[in-house]
Amino acid sequence: MAAFIEHTRDALELGQDQVVTITRDGVEVTGFDGSPAEGTRYHVDWDLSAAEKDGHDWFMRKEIFEQPSSVAAALLGRHTEDGRLQLDEMRIEDSELREIDRIIVVGCGTAAYAGQVAKYAIEHWTRIPVEVELAHEFRYRDPILTRKTLVVAISQSGETADTLMAIRHARAQQSKVLAICNTNGATIPRESDAVIYTHAGPEIGVASTKGFLTQMVACYLLGLYLAQVRRAMFGDEIASVVRDLEQLPAQVTRVLDNAGQVYDLAEDLLGSKAVLFLGRHAGYPVAMEGALKLKELAYMHAEGFAAGELKHGPIALIEPGLPVFCVVPPRGRDQLHGKMISAIQEIRARGARTIVLAEEGDPAAGDYADTLIELPKVPTLMQPLVAVLPLQLFACELATKMGHDVDQPRNLAKSVTVE
Ligand code: G6P
Repeated sequence: MAAFIEHTRDALELGQDQVVTITRDGVEVTGFDGSPAEGTRYHVDWDLSAAEKDGHDWFMRKEIFEQPSSVAAALLGRHTEDGRLQLDEMRIEDSELREIDRIIVVGCGTAAYAGQVAKYAIEHWTRIPVEVELAHEFRYRDPILTRKTLVVAISQSGETADTLMAIRHARAQQSKVLAICNTNGATIPRESDAVIYTHAGPEIGVASTKGFLTQMVACYLLGLYLAQVRRAMFGDEIASVVRDLEQLPAQVTRVLDNAGQVYDLAEDLLGSKAVLFLGRHAGYPVAMEGALKLKELAYMHAEGFAAGELKHGPIALIEPGLPVFCVVPPRGRDQLHGKMISAIQEIRARGARTIVLAEEGDPAAGDYADTLIELPKVPTLMQPLVAVLPLQLFACELATKMGHDVDQPRNLAKSVTVE
């Protein structure tokens, strides 16, 4: 869409195997055999400035800084005046949603990590078991799919072939498919039973940023909606989480205001051979997303680990000077905070250079941090949305300093339309 909005906002969505003939007099849509067919007309509401860099050096950097408004847009209009949640296109009956006994989230790359974060929230709120699977692995293991399985396909572009094939397989087995997508009328939402659009506006940088945040928001809205329909939570509990979500744009802004600290760090770490990322609970997928950003943009060896796994192998990688980003869960969540702090002590004792992301006022975190990046105090399930921001900024800045093309990294495509 970004390619044509300079010329028109009126678009025609074509179905599978349709042919369009454009002449001076008009537009004709037919099937392959020439039989008349009809496309669906729609209006694109993205504005042109959304497809320009607005003074930033890269689309990616612009998209990072747009995240407060992207998150706000993803949340806009999601509840009625009396506080009940409503979603974009929910063509699955409430009675069917009450029957769902399993959710499988599929996606690739960053979208799959958004799904991994969502698992923690959706299971917690709905008590429905959630699995997350890479879309390209999904159908080849002959997954168990029934009418009671809800498959959630996350895709920013809505055109990723691996994800598309996964949902086709799921629907052939009679499962319901819900798409979480940023692109109106893309193939994946078109072929799904329901859609939640993320409303992030065009994402042009190949490495996903605002796509990731808004995918998490959409997944959370889905979890809360399911909890509402299935009465797994009280209305006031749902309203309280929605209020937490509505605080996010301001909290995201606060983290981004601190970009300078992260840029200095990138300068310092220029020349590092490898970088590790550790997290626990919902911070674990954040660690993997941080590593992915660095691989995509800086072409560096980077890995994200669950901090508890460290002692089972990865700790052997620690050597003096190795930068390790550590995402510390907010205090008060089980024993996780303390366990994360001891993992940081372990690696620091072995010479790692620790970059600790922790909520402000966390006294333990500062003691073992070579660099402390403070995050606003947010509930545990909201932390991924603020913790990932310094990791995005770091990868963008390091790659810029290394002279790489941040918007179009080598060997990658924004949307991979082959399996
Ligand atoms: C490509 C992009 C990634 C993206 C993935 C999934 O590999 O380079 O940044 O996360 O596809 O894309 P999707 O559009 O399905 O979210």
